[in-house]
Amino acid sequence: MNKILVIGTGSIGKRHIGNFSKFFDKIDISEIRKDRQEETKKKFKINEIYDDYKIPLNKNKYDAVIITTPPHLHLPIAELACSKGNNILIEKPLGMNSTGWEEIAKICEKKELINYVAYCHRHINYTKKLKDHLESGIIGKIINANVRWGSYFPDWHPWEDYRDYYMAKKEQGGGALLDESHGLDLIRYFFGEASEVFAVVDKISDLEITTDDNAFVTLKMKNKMFVHLSFDLISRFTFCKIEINGSKGSLIWDRVDHNLKIYNAEKKTWKTEQFTKEDFLEMYINQAKHFVECLQKKTQPMISIRDALKTQKIIDNSFLSSETGKSIKI
Ligand SMILES: NC(=O)c1ccc[n+]([C@@H]2O[C@H](COP(=O)([O-])OP(=O)(O)OC[C@H]3O[C@@H](n4cnc5c(N)ncnc54)[C@H](O)[C@@H]3O)[C@@H](O)[C@H]2O)c1
Repeated sequence: MNKILVIGTGSIGKRHIGNFSKFFDKIDISEIRKDRQEETKKKFKINEIYDDYKIPLNKNKYDAVIITTPPHLHLPIAELACSKGNNILIEKPLGMNSTGWEEIAKICEKKELINYVAYCHRHINYTKKLKDHLESGIIGKIINANVRWGSYFPDWHPWEDYRDYYMAKKEQGGGALLDESHGLDLIRYFFGEASEVFAVVDKISDLEITTDDNAFVTLKMKNKMFVHLSFDLISRFTFCKIEINGSKGSLIWDRVDHNLKIYNAEKKTWKTEQFTKEDFLEMYINQAKHFVECLQKKTQPMISIRDALKTQKIIDNSFLSSETGKSIKI
């Protein structure tokens, strides 16, 4: 394939460049920071470099535009990229909120543009295995799930002061709920849509950030299940697990120990299926392959803007529930 534009070459932008280099002859980048431009140029073969993303989008047509800036820029960049007829990959979360995305989804549909939102955890092999287990009925009728997603934010990017990283800034779309919404995406992937949400979302730690650092979200699902999700930026030890309880047993997906644990209530036994960190990291490569295949075959990816919009609406309503102290029907 020919040429892509990657906008924003921070941590995930560079990861995408590495993976997409295998598939595209030319990679243009747009990045406002000169040091990041230099760093990216040293690491990868870059075709053209632009300070302002509007210049390449107004000048060139790309096979795809990869949007890897902080979330507050996802919407304006997607608007311009799609109006110029480019396929797009947007990093999660979709944006600051749901506003404006329905229109972008319509433009994509009208122009038949491939649009993908990078909730990459669906591409881990043991995520797919968990879905297979659920569908096989191994733990019977599913009744509830608990999601625990937390880590210590100042440890995330050792190369920069956490207070300077966009994640510390509310106006740029940082915070536990928006960032860790992978958990919401996975719940929708496994169990379908939510019908009601109640949440408390706030900054309650001493971290020097303007975003929320704790978000506790409770969902009633259309299939009658209850789901509780706890997201935070303060856990000194990283927790990233989903515990699912059914009539015949339990299942635990653990993205720190990279395993699945299955409890059989009749035999009173646990079985562990062990995977590796490489399996986890492979999600980015699997995702790149999936997106390229969609571009080649002109098929819609597994997570479109419309799909991610449903996750975004849960996020919006979680903030609203927390502000009003009320449970919100979705
Ligand atoms: N799917 C994942 O596993 C994953 C992992 C990390 C980040 N992300 C997502 O990717 C996005 C970026 O996160 P990050 O950790 O890479 O952030 P980052 O701060 O490391 O990188 C963002 C880059 O965008 C650049 N930028 C800002 N404004 C710009 C503009 N107008 N034009 C061009 N570049 C601009 C910044 O200078 C920075 O280099 C976020 O939405 C985040 O949630 C996803």
